[in-house]
Amino acid sequence: MDFDGDGVLVAMAAAGVTVLIEAAAPGLPVVAYWGPQLPGLDAAQAAALIRAGEPVSGSNNLEPRPRVAILPEHRTGWTGRPGLSGSAAGRGWSPAFRTTSVRLDGEPARGFVASGAGRLEVEAVDDAGRLTLRLEFELLDSGLVRARAELENRGPDAYGVDDLVLSFPLPPEATEILDFGGRHNLERIPQRAPLRTGAHVRENRKGRTGADSAYVLHVGTPGFGFASGGVWAAHTAWSGNHTHYAERVSTGEQRIGGGELLLPGEVVLTAGERYRGPWLYGSYGQGLDEVARRFHRRLRARPRPVDTRRPVTLNVWEAVYFDHDTDRLLDLAERAAALGVERYVLDDGWFGSRRDDTSGLGDWVVSPDVWPRGLHPLVDRVKKLGMQFGLWFEPEMVNPDSDLARAHPEWIMSARAGWPVESRNQQVLNIGIPEAYAHVKSQILAVLEEYAIDYVKWDHNRDLVEAGTQTDDGRPGVREQTRAFYRLLDEIRAAHPELEIESCSSGGARIDLEVLERADRVWVSDNIDPHDRQHMLRWTTQLIPPEFMGSHVASDRSHVTGRRHDLSFRAGTAVFGHLGIEWDLSQATDEQLAELGEWVAFFKAQRGLLLGGELVRMDGYGDDVLVHGVVAPDRSRALFAMVTMASPYPDPPARLRFRGLDAARLYRVRPIAAAGLPPRWWGPGLEGEVFSGAALEHLGVACPRVNPDQVVLYRADATTG
Ligand code: GLA
Repeated sequence: MDFDGDGVLVAMAAAGVTVLIEAAAPGLPVVAYWGPQLPGLDAAQAAALIRAGEPVSGSNNLEPRPRVAILPEHRTGWTGRPGLSGSAAGRGWSPAFRTTSVRLDGEPARGFVASGAGRLEVEAVDDAGRLTLRLEFELLDSGLVRARAELENRGPDAYGVDDLVLSFPLPPEATEILDFGGRHNLERIPQRAPLRTGAHVRENRKGRTGADSAYVLHVGTPGFGFASGGVWAAHTAWSGNHTHYAERVSTGEQRIGGGELLLPGEVVLTAGERYRGPWLYGSYGQGLDEVARRFHRRLRARPRPVDTRRPVTLNVWEAVYFDHDTDRLLDLAERAAALGVERYVLDDGWFGSRRDDTSGLGDWVVSPDVWPRGLHPLVDRVKKLGMQFGLWFEPEMVNPDSDLARAHPEWIMSARAGWPVESRNQQVLNIGIPEAYAHVKSQILAVLEEYAIDYVKWDHNRDLVEAGTQTDDGRPGVREQTRAFYRLLDEIRAAHPELEIESCSSGGARIDLEVLERADRVWVSDNIDPHDRQHMLRWTTQLIPPEFMGSHVASDRSHVTGRRHDLSFRAGTAVFGHLGIEWDLSQATDEQLAELGEWVAFFKAQRGLLLGGELVRMDGYGDDVLVHGVVAPDRSRALFAMVTMASPYPDPPARLRFRGLDAARLYRVRPIAAAGLPPRWWGPGLEGEVFSGAALEHLGVACPRVNPDQVVLYRADATTG
C-alpha cells in the first residue's frame, strides 16, 4: 500500500486510545486498530504496521483476504453481515464503493496524518454511480469513537435500503460478551455469553429503546470485570428500532456494530433522496469502569451540560396516582418544601378525562373537572414555596377513549384497517403525520405558555406494534416517528430553552445517547424498591453518569415488589443519582420525616461529589455484597457504599477496599451516616487514622457485618497528616 500516493493513513489518539484508519485504500475506510494508545506512531511506523498486518490467505481463502471496512462490503469477499443491504428492485445490491474524498477536521487529508481527537469525513461513490456514501468517523476527547453513514440515491430508480449497519474490529482475545436484558420494573439485567463463530444479534422492534435493550454491548477478554480485562463496547444511539451485534467469522475476523433496524419498505430512496443512520459509539477500556467513564465524559461535555446542583425533586405519582385532589396536592407541596425539596412534579392525571389510565390520553388540556381554576393554585403555591414546577406529558400516545382518537382515528399508527393490539389501554399517535405533529406540539406549547413550567417528564408507555401510517397505505412509520420525536423535543426546547426534560418510558425504556442529546434526566425504572434499584443503578451507569438518573426514595413498602426496607437503605441507595422523593409524605411519621430531611441535607451538601465524581465499582465481592463509589476528579475526596444484597455466603472478604484514589496521597476514612440511623458495626481502626490511596485499594479496612439490604457509607478525605 502506498500511503504517499493516493492512500490516506490516519492515526488518532485521545484519552489513552489510539485508532489507526486506512482511508482511501482505495475502498471504504478500514479501522486497522482500535485499542490502548500506541506510542510513537509516525508515518513510517504506521505504514509498517499496516504492511506487517497484511492478511495471509490460508487454504481455500479468498486472495486477497477481505479488508473489512467500517461499512463492511460484500464485494471485498466479506461474507459476514454486510454494512449495506439494499437494491434497486434487485439491482445494485452489492455496490463497490470507491472513496472520492477524505477530510480530517474539514481539511483534505493525504498520506499519513496524525491527530488527537478529530473528525474524519469520507465520501465515496459506487461503481455504477447509483449511490454516494458519506461516512463520518470521530475520536472524541473522552476516547470514545463514533461513526455514522449517509447514503444518497443518485440513480433514476428507487433504491430500497433494507439494512445499514456500521462496525468496528474486535481483537481475537475479546471472546466474552456482556450486554443487557430486562423488562418493565427490572431494567438492565446483565447477561454474559461466549462469542463463538456466528453472530450475537440483538434486534429491537419496539419502536423505543426498550427496557430489554442491549444498551451497551461489550466484548472483552474472558472474565473481564470493573477494573480488569480489555473491553470493547458498542452503543447504537437510537430511540427507535435498532440493532446491536457482535460477530465472528470462520476466518477469525471479529466485529462489533449496530445500526437502525428498518422495517420492510421503510426506507426507499427516490432519486436524490438520502438516508442517514444513527451514531454507532465505541468505547474501549481496561475494565467496565473505564468503558463507562468515557460515555460519562461525553455526556458531561454536552453543549448543555447537566449541572451537578440537581434540584431535589418530589414526584407525586406513587403518592396520589390519579387522585388529583387540590388540597392533597397542596399539602404535599408544603411538606416537600419543609423537607428541602426544590422541584415539585405533577404526574399523570391533570388533563382531559384522564381520571384513570383508560381515558383522556392525547387531550393535553387541563381538566376543568379536577382543576376548575386550572393548575394556577398549585403552580403558584409551588413557586411561592421556592420550588420549581414540573409536569407530566405522554405526547406520542392516545387512549382510544379520547377526544383526539375520536376526531382523528386516522392519526393512530396502524398497518391495516383495524388498530394494533392495545397496551395499557393505549395506541400510538402518528407524529410522522404533519397535522398530528402540529396538533400535539401546539397543545404542549399552550400549556407551557400558560404556566411557569420548569420541567417536563416526557413519557412513552407502550411498544410500537404494527406501527404503520394509515394515511400512507399502512407503510412502516417507526423511523419517521422516531425522527419526529427528536424534532418535537428540539422545537419545544428551542421555544423554551430553560426547560428541562426527563425521558421516561414505562420507567427506563428510553435511555440512549441520542435521546440524551435532548433530555436532561432519565427515569431509571418504575420499580423504586432499593434492593432492585441497586442493580439497576449499578448497570444504568454503564452508559450514563449519576446526575442523569432519576433516583427516588419511596414509601417503606415498595408499591412494585411489596417488600419493606429501612429508610437508611432506601435513601442510601437513592443518593447516588439525581435524588427525588415519591412517597405520600402525609403518611410518614415525624421520625421518618426528620430522617428523610437529614438525607436531603446530606445529598445537598454532597451533590457536587455524588453527581460530579467518577464512578468506581469494585470487583471481588460476589453478588451478595456490592461496593461502589464516586471519586472527585481531583482525587481529594470520595464517597463509597458497601451494600449487602443478601446474607453473604461465604462470608464477605475480611477487608473492604476502595479504588480510584490517588495512590500516594493520604486519606482519612470514616463511616458516615445521616443522623437517626442506627449505629452499625464497622470495625475498629477508623477513629481518625489516615491511609494511602494505594493501601486503601490493595489492603483496605475491615468489612462491616450487617444485615441484608443495608448500606454503609464511607467518606475518604485527602489530608496532609
Ligand atoms: C409511567 C411512568 C410512571 C408514571 C406513569 C403515569 O408508568 O413510568 O412514572 O409517570 O407512567 O401513568
